[in-house]
Amino acid sequence: MSKKIFSGVQPSGNLHLGNYLGAIKNFVNLQKEKENNCIYCVVDLHAVTVKQNPEILKRNIRETTAVFLASGIDPTKSIIFNQSMVPSHSEGAWLLGCVARMGWLNRMTQFKEKAGKDKEKASVGLYIYPILMAADILLYDSTHVPVGEDQKQHLELTRDIANKFNLDFKCENFLTVPEPLIQKNFSRIMSLKDGTKKMSKSDLSDQSRINLTDDKDQIINKIRKAKTDSDPLPHDDENLNKRSELKNLFGIFSSINDQSLDTTINEFKGKNFSEFKNKLAETLIEKINPISIEINKLLKDKEYIDKILKNGSSQAEEIAKRKVEDIKKIIGF
Ligand code: TYM
Repeated sequence: MSKKIFSGVQPSGNLHLGNYLGAIKNFVNLQKEKENNCIYCVVDLHAVTVKQNPEILKRNIRETTAVFLASGIDPTKSIIFNQSMVPSHSEGAWLLGCVARMGWLNRMTQFKEKAGKDKEKASVGLYIYPILMAADILLYDSTHVPVGEDQKQHLELTRDIANKFNLDFKCENFLTVPEPLIQKNFSRIMSLKDGTKKMSKSDLSDQSRINLTDDKDQIINKIRKAKTDSDPLPHDDENLNKRSELKNLFGIFSSINDQSLDTTINEFKGKNFSEFKNKLAETLIEKINPISIEINKLLKDKEYIDKILKNGSSQAEEIAKRKVEDIKKIIGF
């Protein structure tokens, strides 16, 4: 059955291995199924919920687009665009914001984490961010949304908004209730410095993540310094489960090689740590370095990237505009 796929990535710089393994790699796989319609968005309106430097933001929008292209998203097969060029997203977010409930937003753990202790000082945009995300998804009648584990709650909120709208306005199935596509394994890549913390672009330590723009030496250095323990490599997953940092490294190795954790455990049992880390660094270089080279090449041709975004945005606006018009009719405008 054909799927309508939608997903987004924030252009907040430092796109990393977590973004790649948790989401972008999956975007590319979904595009390979010919019957799917895929739309991938650089969610720049989401990025400004925290303060941005205008020049850096502009660069990061192009860089995120370059990451999509370099990872294998093909603009002749998928729509690639940036959110701020499609005004229907903001309009849709307002309309859906009148359906969403305060109580639902108050439960969002990502807001709590991002706002930190002083939530009075967080932007209003950060608070209503999940409603904009719901508009992104619902305006395209998306059936499936590939994301990492950390976006699960936002997807549940999107489903609640769709269901409530359909019920309130007695228009069954008008808004498609989307399914999250979260990989069973490795959907949460952790920091290289702390196996209990998510790998994140906002982590102050660059050593905590492998950036998609890292070169060979940086990858080798970060893997060499990645935190581990001093026990021998595990013989089974029971032992591995107790060792968060090592489990993360084994997960990264398995995910990047498209193999199960058990296969990785069997491959390395009885071997020493340096052998595993060397092999991990080697594999990451093999997979990530071509992407990083391509990103840098693409970034030299700003006009090409801007053209892709412009084309994609007009295709996206065509679809989104019609849905907003229908929503407005239903509401009574
Ligand atoms: P963002 O930009 O934080 O992350 C982009 C994608 O990368 C995934 N991800 C991870 N996966 C595994 N391990 C990690 N350590 C890790 N870090 C990030 C995220 O789950 C995400 O899939 N709100 C979204 C963007 C968004 C969106 C949407 C997504 C806006 N509108 C509509 C889907 C549909 C976000 O901030 O993702």
